[in-house]
Amino acid sequence: MKRSMYAGCVRSEHIGQTMTLKGWVARRRDLGGLIFIDLRDREGLMQLVINPEDVSESVMATAENLRNEFVIEATGRVAAREQVNSNLPTGAVELKIEALTILNEAKTTPFEIKDGVEAADDTRLRYRYLDLRRPEMLANFKLRAKVTHAIRNYLDGLEFIDVETPMLTKSTPEGARDYLVPSRVSQGHFYALPQSPQIIKQLLMNAGFDRYYQIVKCFRDEDLRGDRQPEFTQVDLETSFLSEQEIQDITEGMIAKVMKEVKGLEVTLPFPRMTYDDAMNYYGSDKPDTRFEMLLQDLTELVKGLDFKVFSEAPAVKAIVVKNQADSYSRKAIDKLADFAKQFGAKGLAWVKYTDGKLTGPIAKFLTAAEEKLTAALQLEENDMVLFVADKLDVANTALGALRLRLAKELDMVDKSKFNFLWVVDWPMFEWSEEEGRYVSAHHPFTLPASESAHELNGDLAKVRALAYDIVLNGYELGGGSLRINQRELQEQMLRALGFSDQEAQEQFGFLLEAMDYGFPPHGGLALGLDRLVMLLAGQDNIREVIAFPKNNRAIDPMTQAPSLVSDEQLKELALQVNHYEEND
Ligand code: AMO
Ligand code: AMP
Repeated sequence: MKRSMYAGCVRSEHIGQTMTLKGWVARRRDLGGLIFIDLRDREGLMQLVINPEDVSESVMATAENLRNEFVIEATGRVAAREQVNSNLPTGAVELKIEALTILNEAKTTPFEIKDGVEAADDTRLRYRYLDLRRPEMLANFKLRAKVTHAIRNYLDGLEFIDVETPMLTKSTPEGARDYLVPSRVSQGHFYALPQSPQIIKQLLMNAGFDRYYQIVKCFRDEDLRGDRQPEFTQVDLETSFLSEQEIQDITEGMIAKVMKEVKGLEVTLPFPRMTYDDAMNYYGSDKPDTRFEMLLQDLTELVKGLDFKVFSEAPAVKAIVVKNQADSYSRKAIDKLADFAKQFGAKGLAWVKYTDGKLTGPIAKFLTAAEEKLTAALQLEENDMVLFVADKLDVANTALGALRLRLAKELDMVDKSKFNFLWVVDWPMFEWSEEEGRYVSAHHPFTLPASESAHELNGDLAKVRALAYDIVLNGYELGGGSLRINQRELQEQMLRALGFSDQEAQEQFGFLLEAMDYGFPPHGGLALGLDRLVMLLAGQDNIREVIAFPKNNRAIDPMTQAPSLVSDEQLKELALQVNHYEEND
């Protein structure tokens, strides 16, 4: 029989109709002869009733054999329910069964198919098709599809051209390790999966496409976290002849449209702009969560003269004030905060409480000389707690920035209904990498330096500013972009500043440099992390929840067991040899 409609869509208006529904058994209850089945399909649950007085013995026998997750076809008449279940959209009706067929059976599933997660992460991923049967998961993917639909409509409307770019390509440095693919035809040579289509989309501007977009998979072999997967999706844009402001306006319009169509929310445009320096100084992060205050305060000057070497001799002393919570933090609890701060490089965490109108705690005695100024500067009130980090400015910022986020979570200070978008602008071009002992790009090597600082490419790299912008939502880096270099000389200078010899630059980026000899227009763009956007719209805190078949935090897919060993023949064809490997469990 042909299915009449989705089970989850049956309503009172269908009462009296005979229909056939198909789906999964979510639950069976036997009540004094009557059998009730909750039938589930992608649109919801619908109650089926099998009454021994209405059906043949064989239908009754089939009904008695039903177990959870069996796939069935049921035909019957829609009737009004005696007791309406107002929790279910189908709660006013039920289907009185006349015929029933089992289309397939199911073993007991490793976890129950219902909202609210009980299974371990790897179990969910191993049986991902069952995990995705859970209504709350399906809802995430319906939301994701709405988001991409709105984005495509918007960009099509602005005459962006959707172009697919190669997956088997050449490594582009976006700061992560590449995933490599060995070539059979050119033995010993490797393709790289794109970390982003950065250079290719620039070349489309050289081709005169003027406006490009793509919703595109990108691949980065980097340490995984809740908002990072080895393969993820970008909404990738590039435009010619536009200013930073114009590119940001287009992006804001796109986000406003998504928020309206997907969440029914009007966002206020333009989004606020914050300089990178302000973000670091006040929030201790280049992706500030502005849904709550607790800003970092600079006390370096104020504590200069004190007879407390931890403070007076430090290059910077900064603090955050935890309002009205001093009595919630025991020494032990503060020690935990200190251990946390140390993970971010702090050497310690000094603290005072403001109780009975004065500073208290072990270091209070060292602060007496500055007590009044400190109290005024921090606007301390009864039961406040102050946490200090004395260190190099960036360490103090980073450690307090991380503490600020942790405390806000711990103290439930974040209004979860807010969507705080903002632009972080006026970026440094380079950041110092302790690991590599050299300057690396804060964004990527194709970013246009602000003209007034470009001469520092041959001088102090810390002083070069970038025409780059990041878009931030609720403390997550949602996307980033910039104006790009279109002049060969400047691009060569940039690569030199990053430590490429002229020969290395030629080998890796010769094709881009060459293109710059052929009328490369001024251009710029941006890429949004689609997974992160959808995650935040879905109210989730891990992008795995909005990626159909993600990897676990060891970059393994527990379902297919990828990555896996390959046959000796396959290796031989590629002229590869594997020396040794560790068997994954
Ligand atoms: P960027 O490297 O900032 O810029 O990447 C853009 C956005 O992609 C998302 N993102 C990720 N999401 C999930 N998992 C990951 N591993 C991951 N890595 C990045 C983030 C990020 O903001 N080519 C430039 C863009 C440009 O300049 O136009 C680029 O890739 O949300
Ligand atoms: P000490 O003099 O090392 O016993 O430290 C006294 C207090 O200051 C302790 O609470 C330490 O955690 C804290 N402290 C030590 N070094 C720093 C620092 N660099 N910044 C902030 N607090 C610190």
